[in-house]
Amino acid sequence: MRMKAHLTRIVHFCAAHRYYRPEWSEERNRAEFGNCANSPGHGHNYECAVTVAGVLNELTSMVMPLDDLDRLLDQKVVKRFDHDFINTVAEEFGPGKTIPTAEAVAVFIWDELQPELPEGVVLSRVRVKENETLYADYFGEKI
Ligand code: NI
Repeated sequence: MRMKAHLTRIVHFCAAHRYYRPEWSEERNRAEFGNCANSPGHGHNYECAVTVAGVLNELTSMVMPLDDLDRLLDQKVVKRFDHDFINTVAEEFGPGKTIPTAEAVAVFIWDELQPELPEGVVLSRVRVKENETLYADYFGEKI
C-alpha cells in the first residue's frame, strides 16, 4: 500500500492592496468595498499556507523535498509580494482587472505554484490570511 499525505508550509509577507474599480463611480466603489476603496490602499501582514499532497517517497518519507518547496514559495510568493503593492505586482490585479482580495490572491498563488510542482505532487489547498479574523482557501475548484 502506498501512503498519501498532505504537507503544509506557511510563509509570511507584508503587502498592500486596494479594492477599486476605475470604471465605477466613487459612490459605487465606496458602497461595494467600503474603506478598502480608500486611496492609495492599505497593508496587511499576510500569512500564506500552502498544502501539497502526494505519495511518500520510499527513501525520504517526504511528499516532496522540503528545500524545493521552500525555494518555490520564496520565489513565487514571498519575493513576489513582500513589501509591494499587490495591485501592481501582477498584470491581472491591474486597473479594471481582478480585485486583489484574499480569495483572488489564493487563486493566483495556486496557478503560479501548480505547474512548478514535481510529477505526482499536487496542491490540495492554498490559504491566504490577512489577519486573525479573515482568510481565504482555494482548493483548485472550478465550477
Ligand atoms: Ni485589506
